[in-house]
Amino acid sequence: MTGNPALAIETHELVKVYGETRALDGLDLTVRTGTIHGVLGPNGAGKTTAMKILATLLRPTSGNAQVLGHDVVREAAAVRRRIGLTGQTMALDEDMTGLQNLILAGRLQGLRHRPATARAEQLLEAFELTEVGNRLVKTYSGGQKRRIDVAASMVVTHELLFLDEPTTGLDPRSRSEVWQMIRVLVQDGGTVLLTTQYLDEADQMADDLTLIDHGQVVARGTPAELKTSRADGVLEVLLTDPSRRAEAGTLLARAIGAGVDAESDPSRLLVKIPDADQAARALGELARAGISVEDFTLGQPSLDTVFLALTGHSTLDDTREEEAEVRA
Ligand SMILES: Nc1ncnc2c1ncn2[C@@H]1O[C@H](COP(=O)(O)OP(=O)(O)OP(=O)(O)O)[C@@H](O)[C@H]1O
Ligand SMILES: [Mg+2]
Repeated sequence: MTGNPALAIETHELVKVYGETRALDGLDLTVRTGTIHGVLGPNGAGKTTAMKILATLLRPTSGNAQVLGHDVVREAAAVRRRIGLTGQTMALDEDMTGLQNLILAGRLQGLRHRPATARAEQLLEAFELTEVGNRLVKTYSGGQKRRIDVAASMVVTHELLFLDEPTTGLDPRSRSEVWQMIRVLVQDGGTVLLTTQYLDEADQMADDLTLIDHGQVVARGTPAELKTSRADGVLEVLLTDPSRRAEAGTLLARAIGAGVDAESDPSRLLVKIPDADQAARALGELARAGISVEDFTLGQPSLDTVFLALTGHSTLDDTREEEAEVRA
């Protein structure tokens, strides 16, 4: 065993190449022991690839990764013994009941029948699945399946748990149940690495965040640090007439001398702005050009804005943009 015990995960220059695609392109990730660490990034950023390498399900093309002090390639078995994983796609036997799936998960991880059953019942209760526990999983709703899948990764407590988009597709109440379970794990001294597309989830859940794009780290820090790293205020303008957005963007860029980001909403523009006077001047320019403004806000950037500023695209809007391209 090597490495720094304060770090549950440490990667150096991790690269994964699939044919022409560099899914990971020199990823340096560090995760502190005992924390919830969020990995954020748009579709295709490399989140699942990174998680699979760390969980020893994939081999990196180059670079190295230490998980709980063990090299993921040379000491894969040692890593595997100490981690739990919920993947982005389900790992359940749909022809068994939820209860049977959880009991099996416990048995596979060395619990005897009685403790495995007790733990399964406790998890069904915690995830509010008791009522459907004796039904075949194939009859579950998407959200129920997702919850039982996450529950299965929590049957035994692991030092490090990987959760790949644990709450995607869940309704708000189910999401907060999953969050609560995750928090309990960390209270018990565990470490959680989770990927998410939900910025509010990252903001509320994660102690630390790593933003990735194109297989590389674009920013890291606590949610608060990331937000203040873009301490400049942000002026968000909602135009009455979306067809004048390009013109408005040019005017604003000239007035403020800063970059303007076009959001995927065709009437919206974001401008980084040093002070309120500049904001007033910028809005004045628009008025003089006869471009009418429906609404505007001046404020601290949200994590979404930070992400947009760093990567040029929003995490959530990718699919919508792709759909728009298809239609265009
Ligand atoms: N088995 C594979 N063969 C070829 N390319 C792959 C394979 N798996 C992933 N990729 C590509 O690698 C890149 C990173 O994919 P990955 O699944 O890690 O992204 P992600 O960040 O998890 O995205 P999402 O938010 O959609 O889950 C993508 O361009 C993807 O198409
Ligand atoms: Mg993924």
